[in-house]
Amino acid sequence: MEGYIPPTSAGNLQDYEVASKEFTWASVDKEFDWSKGSVYNVAYEAIDRHALNWRKNKIALYSINAEREVQKYTFGELSRISSRVASGLTKLGAKKGDRIFVYLDRTSELYMAMMGIVKMGGIAGPLFSALGPEAVKDRALDSGTNIIITSQYLYERLLPILDDLADLRKIVIVGASGDMDENCVSFDDLLESGDPNFQAINMAPTDPYIIHYTSGSTGKPKGVLLGHRAMVQQCITSRWVLDLREEDTYWCTADPGWVTGTSYGIFGPWYLGTSIVSYEGRFDARTWYDILQRYGVTVWYTAPTALRMLMRAGDDLVKEFDLERVRHICSVGEPLNAEVVRWAMRTMNRRIHDTWWQTETGAHLICNYPCMTIRPGSMGKPIPGVIAGVVDEEGNEVPPGTEGYLALRPGWPSMMLGIYRNTPRFKEYFRIPGWYIAGDQAYRDEDGYFWFMGRADDVIKTSGERLGPFEVESALIEHSAVAEAGVIGKPDELRGEIVKAFITLRPGYKPTEELKEDITKFVKTRLAYYAYPREIEFVESLPKTRSGKIMRRVLKAKELGQPLGDLSTLDD
Ligand code: WTA
Repeated sequence: MEGYIPPTSAGNLQDYEVASKEFTWASVDKEFDWSKGSVYNVAYEAIDRHALNWRKNKIALYSINAEREVQKYTFGELSRISSRVASGLTKLGAKKGDRIFVYLDRTSELYMAMMGIVKMGGIAGPLFSALGPEAVKDRALDSGTNIIITSQYLYERLLPILDDLADLRKIVIVGASGDMDENCVSFDDLLESGDPNFQAINMAPTDPYIIHYTSGSTGKPKGVLLGHRAMVQQCITSRWVLDLREEDTYWCTADPGWVTGTSYGIFGPWYLGTSIVSYEGRFDARTWYDILQRYGVTVWYTAPTALRMLMRAGDDLVKEFDLERVRHICSVGEPLNAEVVRWAMRTMNRRIHDTWWQTETGAHLICNYPCMTIRPGSMGKPIPGVIAGVVDEEGNEVPPGTEGYLALRPGWPSMMLGIYRNTPRFKEYFRIPGWYIAGDQAYRDEDGYFWFMGRADDVIKTSGERLGPFEVESALIEHSAVAEAGVIGKPDELRGEIVKAFITLRPGYKPTEELKEDITKFVKTRLAYYAYPREIEFVESLPKTRSGKIMRRVLKAKELGQPLGDLSTLDD
């Protein structure tokens, strides 16, 4: 078919159709040392076992800081350092099942901390360093966090909220300077106190190793728990979808504050013993191309907004670099436009392989594989071992070409174990019997390819980052000028969506540009720098149901000039 892009070589997954028929999850067990009697722990499989063979001296991590200086760590080194972290935390009183937050920029200590926590049986809670103090507080209170590992400047950012965190016992500070509180320990002292030969704790497959906070359309962000058993799926998809091989150098551009940055920025590639590249700095087109070239990146996992920004930076720029070594490119997090796929073919002569999954799914579910023809704009097909469908409200599969709820048959290995202390929310995903309902709208074509249509709820995806309107509205109404706020995702060519806020003001406040700026600043410190409304519109009133709920659907339809739909519940 015109526009379809055929494969150039098969890759690790030789034949999708055959694998879909024959594959069993149990066949992956032999990849892991636990199947030969070692402990069951994702950190052991990702790091320690490689330190017992020739990979001991293989580079596990190229950690590039914001100044573009690089530090290299072998699997052997990371094994000993993370053991020191694990042992040091244990000496601080950390126990199996404790929630331990990692609030750090993307530096090497972040990787050491994550591995150390998981090794001693803790539940690691990675937090994006762009989060403001109130956002950290929400997450720490929800999870009853016991220990936070952070850096000096981020520690100072948290000072106003620390007294509110009743369960917090210790703070470990990277680069600690100045006088320290008695509950603070420097990261260096933690390492010093720790035993480099600490052995990873044996865990159960259903013990959580990570808690990722993510947004829904209602309430504040929720803690998604992923279990040690997720390794089975993260490992096989790293091989089939990311197509990783022993000699690869792999760069995942996602921050470990998001699930992509852990499932595929840390664990998946390390199960396979792959060398990974990590870059602390922010997006910049020239810097990114330079990293690809300089480190000889062969496999690259990124997101549509970044790709669109690269595309905007122009064809001349990409041609300045030698990107011949980039063998395989994947994308995740938001719809990948066909235009971007064609741009990559034109400028780099490489296909971009779209992948669909969620924080809650723990690993890839619907993807494009090296061996499969790409239909630009499609998310691809379910990974072998997973059954996906498009269903109606009763759970009946709808015919090809018909839009419906994107659904999965539950039971894939990396599926979340639960939502931390929120069983009702967990049950909502299974409200249609027999299915896990993802919250997305999609259709399947005649040949089994899945196509994304949009969210089925109010969740916003801005630059690939997931945001709930409720959290933004809650932050907005804490501003003294704001009476009420309704927040929507407004389609945006570059960012996929931007946050738009409709605001009614309290008496005495004037709708000025200065006020908009002030409100914007306020939200950035309360939530995170990416979570602020890029557009604010002051309105006289907001459309509400008779019970007083803001009808975001009506705001959105008005904004887009679309029909307003059923207004029978609207209060006049
Ligand atoms: C969206 C990211 C279109 C979708 C790993 C999903 C996508 C949500 C794609 C999960 C894709 C993710 N095409 N939309 N390839 N991948 N999404 O939890 O709405 O941050 O439900 O996980 O992102 O976002 P999350």
